[in-house]
Amino acid sequence: MQKVRSIAQLKKNLHQWRKQNLSIAFVPTMGNLHEGHIKLVLAARKKADKVVVSIFVNPTQFGVGEDFESYPRTEEDDEIKLKEACADLLFLPSVLEIYPEAMETIVSVTKLSTRHCGKSRPNHFNGVATIVVKLLNMVQPDIAFFGEKDFQQLAIIRKMVNDLNISCEIIGVETERELDGLAMSSRNNYLTESERKIAPKLYHSICKARENVLLGVKDLKVIEKEQYDYLASLGFVVDYFSICRCDNLQPAKVSDNEIVILVAAKLGKPRLIDNIYFSR
Ligand code: PAF
Repeated sequence: MQKVRSIAQLKKNLHQWRKQNLSIAFVPTMGNLHEGHIKLVLAARKKADKVVVSIFVNPTQFGVGEDFESYPRTEEDDEIKLKEACADLLFLPSVLEIYPEAMETIVSVTKLSTRHCGKSRPNHFNGVATIVVKLLNMVQPDIAFFGEKDFQQLAIIRKMVNDLNISCEIIGVETERELDGLAMSSRNNYLTESERKIAPKLYHSICKARENVLLGVKDLKVIEKEQYDYLASLGFVVDYFSICRCDNLQPAKVSDNEIVILVAAKLGKPRLIDNIYFSR
């Protein structure tokens, strides 16, 4: 696996591959890689000749008081895992390489970004959309992979790529879970031992809500409130528990068929998110 830190070097390597007509898959990450990320790399491996992975802890998607400074940076371990997963190129730019001067341009997917996580993290999705466009422009992959755990992020990226005619296929990869159901996340490392035991209840709550939707409970607000209160009783500080339409993440109606249940809650230090989507 080659490792590059500059955009110029990245472009040189990509140019060689393009000359040989090789297809390129891209997996953008913020590092501290776990099995969920490796699943993305393996999915990418199957779909293209070459796999590029980026590790960049993007400052513009962190709000004031969030964990940008303390976000786990584990470059050596990440590199070993990526070699094992047979990635071809690791792009590890510095903040200065990506943002050499103050940006005046912001990419904003206006409606989708204001709901759910966007309410409590006001500039987060603008930061995500902008860095993803920058990275897609640098790598110009044929196909790019994102985890479904960040369901809203994935929806925003799909909308942005479509709205801006970016020629890259976007693939969502199923959430990787611990044996007890907890969705894998770098932020799980922040959980204390006792919080770690409670954390899977987040997943259990969305499963229970799905069961009730499928059983035909008509008032979706009642299901939401029941699970919200259940999580609060366990010590979660619930940000939202929402039963939505899959396509636009607006509140679902009883007549809607493609449903996603989205949840975000703080448990001690970390803010955890999860989701489950299904047809009925
Ligand atoms: O999901 C992430 O890790 C990040 O939001 C992403 C897509 C790499 C952009 O920084």
